[in-house]
Amino acid sequence: MLQIPEFQIPVTEIQTDFDCRIFIKREDLIHPEISGNKFWKLYYNINHYLGSKPENPLLISFGGAFSNHIASVAAFGKQFGIPTIGIIRGEELEDAWQDNPTLYKASQDGMQFVFVSRNDYHNKERLTHAFSLQYNNALIIPEGGSNAAAVQGIQYMLGKETKDFDYLCTAVGTGGTIAGLSKFAEGGQKVVGIRVVKDDSLPKTILEWSGRPNFELVDANETRYGKITDENVRFINWFYKEYQIPLDPIYTGKMMQTIFDLAEKGYFAKGSKILAFHTGGLQGIKGANQFLKSKNRILIDFEE
Ligand SMILES: Cc1ncc(COP(=O)(O)O)c(C=O)c1O
Repeated sequence: MLQIPEFQIPVTEIQTDFDCRIFIKREDLIHPEISGNKFWKLYYNINHYLGSKPENPLLISFGGAFSNHIASVAAFGKQFGIPTIGIIRGEELEDAWQDNPTLYKASQDGMQFVFVSRNDYHNKERLTHAFSLQYNNALIIPEGGSNAAAVQGIQYMLGKETKDFDYLCTAVGTGGTIAGLSKFAEGGQKVVGIRVVKDDSLPKTILEWSGRPNFELVDANETRYGKITDENVRFINWFYKEYQIPLDPIYTGKMMQTIFDLAEKGYFAKGSKILAFHTGGLQGIKGANQFLKSKNRILIDFEE
């Protein structure tokens, strides 16, 4: 079972010259391997499942080659001695997964993989159905861990210490995290999601989960999912030097750079307080650097 940590997650001010104040809540520090929003998205899903005392428990989930969610599910399985299966996008990885740091670590954590073509992966309903027939005892967690139970878990990212912020900001992939922030935000708070993926269905999905129109989506500078830009890597390296806070190049780095751009353009009200959630993802830096190195590109100059 996942336990709510007893320590207070730090909220730190990022000193800038903007006319608003920016803070970061370090959800990445919640657990060394089940980090940030993944912890909270898994919280109810896994605890309900294990609470029902399944015979031969098994966790199955989906993800791409560098998925933070896959890494978290595998780490959870290892910590609690529960077998895990990862359904991974891309048949070509079948013979190459050992070279991928995320999949290699997940395998070390005991995860078994099933590699599927991009076409098959796209049809997750069919895949889920097939796996639920084959493993009728298993908990099948959707891609990115997002579902109604995950949205409920996100409420724990909010508390006394987040109440007096005017804006709550998060990176948006599948939408579960922002939906939880939107659902559980205080009345006057505005929730801003930095979209790191092109997905026109996101506003509708988020509204269905949250039920409150208190959020706005803003595109990151790059919204091709997983695409790493040199400009963002430079920002991440600068941010680390300046504030000693590591960001990842898929989610939190894009979020923070976009927040800085928005602050510069006057998007946030003068004198307002902005809280950005560090949702983790740092495990992906190793794989990102491996890729960047192979292309002779600028690297992230720290690794977690
Ligand atoms: C580090 C990180 N930040 C943000 C997100 C986006 O969360 P969501 O998919 O709930 O929108 C993810 C995906 O889970 C993530 O791994």
